[in-house]
Amino acid sequence: MNRKALHKISYGLYVVSSVKGGKFNGQIANAVFQVTATPPKVAVSINRENLTHSFIESSGVFSVSVLSRETPMVFIGLFGFRSGRDVDKFENVDYDIGATGAPIVKDHAVAWMETRVTESVNAGTHTVFIGEILDADLIKDEDVMTYEHYHSVLRGRAPKAAPTHMEV
Ligand SMILES: Cc1cc2nc3c(=O)[nH]c(=O)nc-3n(C[C@H](O)[C@H](O)[C@H](O)COP(=O)(O)O)c2cc1C
Repeated sequence: MNRKALHKISYGLYVVSSVKGGKFNGQIANAVFQVTATPPKVAVSINRENLTHSFIESSGVFSVSVLSRETPMVFIGLFGFRSGRDVDKFENVDYDIGATGAPIVKDHAVAWMETRVTESVNAGTHTVFIGEILDADLIKDEDVMTYEHYHSVLRGRAPKAAPTHMEV
């Protein structure tokens, strides 16, 4: 099998956030897509070992922030390479608390949505959580970060927990 074929699938870059016991956490994810229009639902694929996974599993809610193309690497480093088990990612970040109680990251976001989980699929290393969108809004009219831009221009990597991770 030529796994390079999988590189031809395109994605954006997002922060998926959730809440548990009054604590907030979030992580970078590229595996986010809309699955239905009526009602509007999005799916996220989250590694079982991530703290965000246990937050979504326990609260049944998550938000998605759509990142701008200008998002700095230091922000992606915090949300994508560090765990909320070791650091409070929300300490110096601009966010709101949505109607679901989930935090919604506003820093570097062009748009956001908050959801309640309606289905979840055990896909092995990852769970695919499907959430019905309860509210959403635009923040600013800027280009979005694509996975392609992240890799080819910013020379970013995908860590082990990302579904698109490849050993090199
Ligand atoms: C570019 C990029 C894409 C990523 N995509 C995903 C993804 O789609 N799903 C996932 O579970 N983790 C993904 N990750 C990894 C998580 O963001 C990372 O494991 C994070 O540290 C988990 O944090 P937590 O333990 O606080 O939840 C990605 C990371 C990067 C940098």
